[in-house]
Amino acid sequence: MADRKATLTVDGLDKAIELPIYSGSLGPDVIDVRALGSEGLFTYDPGFMATSSCQSAITYIDGGKGILLHRGYPIDQLASKSNFVEVCYTLLFGELPNEEQYADFESRIRNHTMVHDQINNFFKGFRRDAHPMSILCGVVGGLAAFYHDHMDITKEEDRVISAIRLIAKMPTIAAMSHKYNVGQPFNYPRNDLSYAENFLYMMFSNPCEDYKINPVCAKAMDRIFTLHADHEQNASTSTVRLAGSTGANPFACISAGIAALWGPAHGGANEAVLNMLDEIGDESEENIQRFVDKAKDKDDPFKLMGFGHRVYRNFDPRAKVMKETCDEVLAELGLADDPQLKIAKRLEQIALEDEYFIERKLYPNVDFYSGIILKAMGIPTNMFTVIFAVSRTIGWISHWHEMHSDSYKIGRPRQLYTGHDQRDYPKK
Ligand code: SDX
Repeated sequence: MADRKATLTVDGLDKAIELPIYSGSLGPDVIDVRALGSEGLFTYDPGFMATSSCQSAITYIDGGKGILLHRGYPIDQLASKSNFVEVCYTLLFGELPNEEQYADFESRIRNHTMVHDQINNFFKGFRRDAHPMSILCGVVGGLAAFYHDHMDITKEEDRVISAIRLIAKMPTIAAMSHKYNVGQPFNYPRNDLSYAENFLYMMFSNPCEDYKINPVCAKAMDRIFTLHADHEQNASTSTVRLAGSTGANPFACISAGIAALWGPAHGGANEAVLNMLDEIGDESEENIQRFVDKAKDKDDPFKLMGFGHRVYRNFDPRAKVMKETCDEVLAELGLADDPQLKIAKRLEQIALEDEYFIERKLYPNVDFYSGIILKAMGIPTNMFTVIFAVSRTIGWISHWHEMHSDSYKIGRPRQLYTGHDQRDYPKK
């Protein structure tokens, strides 16, 4: 309910417009501007810098303080004390599971990891060198052709079954995308492995030798999944909500989210960070400084990938945990002297002392260190955003489920029209 109001006076209007203000449980209050339409006015907010698209109880971000809460739990506590499957349950249903709920949820996911064998045929339609994100986009959208039995979005039970299927099958499809890309046979998931162990097994096992799972890498993989799970109304989650608002099926909505995530300004940044570190090449001071100067040069399109964030004007709390995980994994694998890690750490240090970045409050974000960990674990760069998508699927489907659990309207933004007035077609 509105507990306060904003009064808008508009030149040319003979009366002020009263707009209700609502307060949430945390964060900024919102002004309900819907009444402007009947006054012949729209709001104008390209990039949605100050626009709330919905109400949500899933994730809260305080960009100024670098706070990220999932259902109220701080991300650093979840990353160190929970695991990805428990985080999935909590994001989807709102509370941490008790022992019985966890066991049931984990077992349902573990037993839904296989995909229909006919789905293998989808892959043969892609060129061998297709980017795994293009394969993921296509195959996930195609799941709608296989799972019609529970796709009534008005039924909570069907929504939960679709969510379980997506959480369970994304790692399988992701690993298949990689295997197709490298010309190796697909691995079937194993029910004796944890979520992260299974993913690494399906990625790296091959018929010629047993794949030994490194527990440090499995733990790091689980933590990377947890750190990327959800992030409020980011571009890809907003895409999923917009697609969902038309009544589209969950697989089509998640496929839309994957497509939006792929951009280098969003989830594609982790791959772009590694490409940037490759481009920087040597770790000499003057060379790194040259790239920092390029990032500051308005005439140069080069940006420091993995730096900056629309919401965080402080350290991204996920980047802190990712940096600790990076040190752990590289030490475990004997790669503490990895040249790219050294460049990344020096780059961060220089940037954080530079007025340009300080003034614009640009800090490392979740993507800055994740790629170095994944590369150290032997995961190819073109799979980094795929892994982001595997993890973010729980965030996307939780927001989709939340939207359908409440009343909602189809998303239909308006515009500031700058085109021609009406004119007649010239030809007789
Ligand atoms: C993710 O929204 C989410 O929550 C996303 C995400 C999630 O979990 O879903 O957190 C995941 O997408 C993380 C962000 C990954 N992207 C990158 O690392 C790409 C590099 N970063 C930038 O492209 C940029 O910082 C954005 C896109 C992340 C944010 O862009 P904004 O909010 O639109 O800010 P902006 O581009 O207007 O930048 C403000 C100023 C500009 O300079 P001025 O015009 O004021 O002089 O800062 C500069 C920008 O040029 N700037 C950078 C920079 N990022 C911003 N300059 C150099 N290098 C950078 N990385």
